[in-house]
Amino acid sequence: MKKSILILGACGQIGTELTYALREKYGSDTVIASDIREGKEDLMNSGPFELLDATDFNALEELIAYYEINEVYLMAAMLSATAEKFPMRAWNLNMNSLFNVLVLAKEKKIDKIFWPSSIAVFGPNTPKNSTPQNTIMEPSTVYGISKQSGERWCNYYHTKFGVDVRSVRYPGLISWKTMPGGGTTDYAVEIYHKALSEKSYTCFLKEDTRLPMMFMDDAIRATLLLMESDSAAIKVRSSYNLAAMSFSPNEIATSIKNHIPDFEIFYKPDFRQDIADSWPNSIDDKEARRDWGWEAEFNLERTTEKMLSNLGP
Ligand code: SER
Repeated sequence: MKKSILILGACGQIGTELTYALREKYGSDTVIASDIREGKEDLMNSGPFELLDATDFNALEELIAYYEINEVYLMAAMLSATAEKFPMRAWNLNMNSLFNVLVLAKEKKIDKIFWPSSIAVFGPNTPKNSTPQNTIMEPSTVYGISKQSGERWCNYYHTKFGVDVRSVRYPGLISWKTMPGGGTTDYAVEIYHKALSEKSYTCFLKEDTRLPMMFMDDAIRATLLLMESDSAAIKVRSSYNLAAMSFSPNEIATSIKNHIPDFEIFYKPDFRQDIADSWPNSIDDKEARRDWGWEAEFNLERTTEKMLSNLGP
């Protein structure tokens, strides 16, 4: 059967780069980008685009039939910081969009789903260092609760109905093409922009708050690798732990100072500090390595080089 891919939330931080990568791999017309709003010009010009609200089941079903879609990447979501401000909107968006695609897969209208989970599924009672795949979860944020529930539903639809849904728990993602929006790890992108434009950054997390992070190229590569793997190899149908590096604001500032010696960082923690404090410091991703050969390529130094060279003059 001819491959036909739909990306929901294609204008966001991950969706944008996923759209480029999938178009590069499978051809522009094979990949339908969609979002509730239009994205940047480059993306809009790179292939077919449809305005779509991922929570609107009928519109989604119609679009899937029209383009004969067989693979869906559901990247639309409200992230951790914004979700604390709008809990019900976050729950409705994050859960209803997921149910829509799970139901369409159960009805055999699509064959394969990618749905991202997050390190936010873990909570204050989770072991903080090298957090294993299976452990205490108890998320304490609205976003984390929606992602953990989502994981259970993915596993349920796979076990009960044979739905081929695949997922990773992304760490904080660092990228230069599109800004993140509404997350707790966003500081690790903003800091590079401010380092270049103002040589100083005021961080909303404390200097020693260590969180799991990943450069976007690794995140996209992991996503494609997982989606291309043989279904039988995928043993985890909730969501895979995924890791690349961990650092604190102090450490990322030091790595920037190696390139911009007069860069200064200041700290003014806000409500996002509590969110960050509830998440792990580092992640053990041995199941992803074992089952589908995952290995990260970017550490903090390489990430800083890439960010500064791509954002810089
Ligand atoms: N990076 C996301 C956030 O900070 C977590 O998945 O909300």
